[in-house]
Amino acid sequence: MENPVGVFDSGVGGLTVLRELVATLPSERFVYVGDTARHPYGGKSADTVTRYSIEIANHLIRRSDIKLLVVACNTASSLALPVLRKIYKIPVVGMVDPCVRRAAALRRKETIGVVGTQGTVRSGAYEEALRSAVPSARVRSIACPLLVSLAEEGWIDKPVTREVIGEYLAPFREDPPDALILGCTHYPVLKDPIRDCIGDGTVLIDSGEEAARVVDVLLSETGVRRAGGVGDVEFLVTDDPDRFARVGQRFFGATLTCAERIAL
Ligand code: DGL
Repeated sequence: MENPVGVFDSGVGGLTVLRELVATLPSERFVYVGDTARHPYGGKSADTVTRYSIEIANHLIRRSDIKLLVVACNTASSLALPVLRKIYKIPVVGMVDPCVRRAAALRRKETIGVVGTQGTVRSGAYEEALRSAVPSARVRSIACPLLVSLAEEGWIDKPVTREVIGEYLAPFREDPPDALILGCTHYPVLKDPIRDCIGDGTVLIDSGEEAARVVDVLLSETGVRRAGGVGDVEFLVTDDPDRFARVGQRFFGATLTCAERIAL
């Protein structure tokens, strides 16, 4: 099926998810919406994030007739996914289930950590999903809101970033969990300082990698995989495309072709 896969996030962060999707599914066509005008979602209420998510999904369906929707934003996945799944007929993939599935498949999973935005942690979505998938695990979640700005600033290896990570993750440094779910689009770019902070004994679960695996299987199962050829990506943003392209490169891992500004 030629129709594209729709992907959305509050801004540039979801490009870490898109990067994994493109690497796993090189023949697929993608349309990415970064809601840069209303970023960040992390501190917003469930009502607001759900409303934004519906507006974006409607836009993607109207404009591009997408065959599947990936909610790359962990905050939107945690707060809006049940509503989105009720509204739309196409499959909707969020970040929570793929990460939890990976955690459940691990050999050692007595203790599982979750890091994300305030909205993600407050929603309890990861904890609830982990409770039913890995009932024996002790789960601890920590909100790390400042990491979004540090990642966008490109301060990956700065002492201040290591200090902030050390402060947030102090409980995990003292007692490293078996697995740590990186439940925010921005944290994959901070994997090195996070790893340095908590040591080598913890499996880091990256939502983009896990979601790409799930989308791969789902496209085959539902019979909508594109037959072949070279895929492409269309970038849509709700604010200045130049800033998106500049900051987004670090998250996407490649130069971004020009983005189009849209009104939702
Ligand atoms: N994309 C958000 C997430 O993954 C992080 C940035 C924001 O707060 O909007 O939760």
